[in-house]
Order: sequence, then C-alpha cells, then structure tokens
Amino acid sequence: MHLRVVSDQPWDVPADLLVIPFVGEPALDGLFAPIDQRTGGELKALAAFGELKPDRYAAAFVPAGECRAGRLLAISAGSSDSLSRQVVVRLGSAIARRVADRKVRTLAIWLGDLGDSIDGGAAAVAELLARGVVEGEFDPASLYHSPDAGSEPSSLVELILVAPGAAGPALVVAAERGIVMGEGANLARGLANRAANDVTPEVLAEESRAIAERYGLSIDVLGPSEAAELGMGMFMAVGRGSDNPPRMIVLRSGEAGATDSVGRRLALVGKGVCFDSGGISIKPADRMEEMKMDKTGACTVIAAIATVARLAPGTPLMAIAPAVENMPGPHSTRPGDVVKAMNGKTVDILNTDAEGRLILGDAMVYAEKLGATHLVDIATLTGAVARALGDQMTGAFGTPQSWYDQVAAAGARAGERYWQLPMIDEYRKEMDSWYADFTNTGPAEGGLIRSALFLREFATVPWVHLDIAGTAYFRKKTPYAPPGATGVAHATLVELALAGASKS
Ligand code: BES
Ligand code: MN
Ligand code: ZN
Repeated sequence: MHLRVVSDQPWDVPADLLVIPFVGEPALDGLFAPIDQRTGGELKALAAFGELKPDRYAAAFVPAGECRAGRLLAISAGSSDSLSRQVVVRLGSAIARRVADRKVRTLAIWLGDLGDSIDGGAAAVAELLARGVVEGEFDPASLYHSPDAGSEPSSLVELILVAPGAAGPALVVAAERGIVMGEGANLARGLANRAANDVTPEVLAEESRAIAERYGLSIDVLGPSEAAELGMGMFMAVGRGSDNPPRMIVLRSGEAGATDSVGRRLALVGKGVCFDSGGISIKPADRMEEMKMDKTGACTVIAAIATVARLAPGTPLMAIAPAVENMPGPHSTRPGDVVKAMNGKTVDILNTDAEGRLILGDAMVYAEKLGATHLVDIATLTGAVARALGDQMTGAFGTPQSWYDQVAAAGARAGERYWQLPMIDEYRKEMDSWYADFTNTGPAEGGLIRSALFLREFATVPWVHLDIAGTAYFRKKTPYAPPGATGVAHATLVELALAGASKS
C-alpha cells in the first residue's frame, strides 16, 4: 500500500473515497461546515435523519457533491472523553473494513477532528490510523477458502492522509512506522489462524526460518534430542505425546551478547502449542477447535522480532518460541508423572492440560542461559483470564514492579490494555507436592494467580507474563476486526523492544 500525506483542504483531494472521522457530535457548523456546504448540505441532512450517530465506528456514505473525492464516508470516533490510542487504531481498521468490498483503491482520510485528540498530536494519529488501516485489511477468509471465480479482491492501493497545516515529512515517517506495525500484527495473525494440520511445530520452525532469512535474523531450532540433552524435561513432557515432534525456536537480532541502548538483553518468550487437546487430561469437545490458536504467543513473538528488525535493524533482541502439540497417546505424559525442569526443579504434573506453563518455564530458563537479562512471556495460558477479563483486556503479572511498569508503558504507547493481577504468595502452598518440588496445578480458586506463581519459579531476572487467552482471538466479528486472531500485544512488544533501539 502506497502512502501519501497531503496538506490540501480535504475537499480538494482526489480519491475514490474521502473519510471524515468525527469525535462526539459532528461540528457541522464548525470544522465540517465547509465540507457540508460542498455536499449541498448532505451531512446536515444525514445528521437530521439520524444517520450520523456518535456511536463509535458507526459510519455513513455521503455523496461527494463538489468535493473532488468520488464519495465521502463519515465515521464516528465516539465520545472525546473515551478516545484513546486504541480507538484511533480501531477507527483505522473500521474504515478499512467498511470499504473492503467497495471499489476503493485510493483512500483518503482527513485527520481534521482527530488532530490533537491524543498525545503525540497529528503524528501519533497518523501512525495509529495507518496501522489500523493495515490491520483492518487483514482477511482471514483468504486463508483456506477456494478462490471465488469472478470476484477479484479490491485491495487498497494508496492511503492518503489529509492533514492541512501539519508537518508532512514527520507524518510520513510516523505513518510508515504504523504500516510496518500493522503488517507485523497481520503476520502474527496469519500464522495464528492457521489450522493445526497445517502448522505443526516443524512448520512453525520453517516459517520462522523464512522470516529470519527475510529480515536478517539469526535462527536456531532445537529438536527433541537437543532439548532432552539440555535438560528441558517440562518441554519434552508436553511434546512427547505427538507424532509431530517439538521444536524450540530461537530467533535473534543484534550482535551476539550485546545489550541494547538501555542496557538490556531482552527476550520475548511465546507459547507455541500448535494444538492443545489437553493431552491425557483431555478437554471436552465443545470449542476444542479453538485450541489451534494456542500457538498465538509464539506467532506474536516471531512477528514482533521481525517488526523490530524492520524498524530498527540490529537492535539486540531474542524471541523464543517453544512449539509443541499437546496430544494424548501411548507416549504421552500421564497425570502424576514427575519431570525435571531445565533449572533442576522437579514438577509433579497433575494435569496435562496445564501444559503452557511447562513449555514456557523451560524456554524462560533457556532464555536466561542465552544471556537474557529481561523476560516477557506471552501465552494463551488460562481459561480463567478469559472469564475474568473477557476479550478486551489482557491479564498481566510481573516482578519487579519497575519492570512491569515499563512493559505497561510500552502497552500504553501501543494503544493496548493490560490489567495487572497480583502474585499472592499464600496461593503457592496449594502447589506443594509430596513427590516433587511443586505441582503444575492446584485448586481452581486462585488458579489464574497460581499459573503466574508457577512461571515465577523459572525466572531469576525481571520478568513479565502476559496472559492473552481472552484477547488473542475474537469469536465474532466487530466493526474493527473479523473473527480469529487479533494480533494483540504485537505492538506492545515492539514498542518495548524499540525502547532499546540505538538512536540514529
Ligand atoms: N490453552 C489453554 C488455555 C485456554 C483456554 C486458552 C481457553 C484459550 C481459551 C491452557 O493450556 C489450559 O488448558 N489451561 C487450563 C489450566 C488448568 C488445567 C489449570 C485451563 O485454563 O483450564
Ligand atoms: Mn491446556
Ligand atoms: Zn494450552
């Protein structure tokens, strides 16, 4: 998608469609009066008719009258007091989705009413809108549907941001960054949505190799014998039940051993369960198909390191994705089996469906062995987080608080929402085991907190855990996203890593 930023008045911009976002009630006697006049009062008439509602993402097409665009689209950004960076991204996506099946090749968006709505001003709006448009173009239906004879996909060729009076070059840089961010999120989504008979651990490793090649990352992939050799007993316990062997995928950028510009060797660790049947502690059939999405954390860290390589090549960063299939079978781990983790701790596996924490624990220990000084793990870890927070808020844990705060700040820059949950030490005792150092589950009450307490056993450096089980994918479409993988947390991880990019 080609990008242009123009400082012309919106009605002078030639495009297939000119989008007019408005905040709150549209100011038809103020900012929008000149454009309303050029439509011959169509905007006012629509408002009077009840079409221009301030409901967020509600949109109406308007004849262009004397404007140079072929048609106009007025779209609500909702009320000003709840306007956020996230809303600006989603507004971009809602625009792209609204025009997806229309004949729109050149899309112009007037920043007018959004200009100073968020901090960062017009440049931030340009970045977030452009990112949103790219994310809004993502179409999961193109993955496996047979090609529809006759209908050619009408994708956007050019995005024109219309910002009268703004500093054009700064907006171009910002919007280009947004486009790369959006493409990265879509890379993660495209991988995450793929079926488990398509993306096995080995295929995820192959895809990672292709991504590494493309963006100049180094890659190592460990198979079962290397993992066993390294003492990754928890990782192997999960991976051994499937005919599709496990892979520990390690992507790296920057000079070997180097710290980033803020003194970190940051590692992003993503849960890569290509299918989670539950194993011997098998899940009920209802919605089990969703467990092909259980690799979303891995897809997110793989895409995030690729995005960082595009935006700030050479930034020291690691992405580690333990990839497995959690299956029942004659070789599977049984409830009550005791295994030894890479850090020497022994685990009594009471429930083979609490597998994410097992593979992540070994991957975190391995990340530290490879020199990581700061960890963030991201995982579709618990149904409990989805029940507690739903699909709009990612649950998060971390220690020390100063590191959590840095991750949360990256999330705020990215326009993503995190809710910090407490690690309550008292709940750890329900994971005491007669047979091993601890169990991998406990009672359901407090289970969400215990999932983090378990992971904490495998971190000796600052660490944050993001539980995206609720936010990784949508079951239904919204104005701003189709069903399926959402790309959640990709932008947060990129922002976090870019805080360590060397300033050029
Ligand atoms: N992958 C699941 C968590 C999950 C559930 C993700 C729903 C997305 C939607 C995870 O491996 C799991 O099975 N967790 C168990 C843990 C329990 C056995 C302690 C859960 O949440 O029920
Ligand atoms: Mn599970
Ligand atoms: Zn799982």
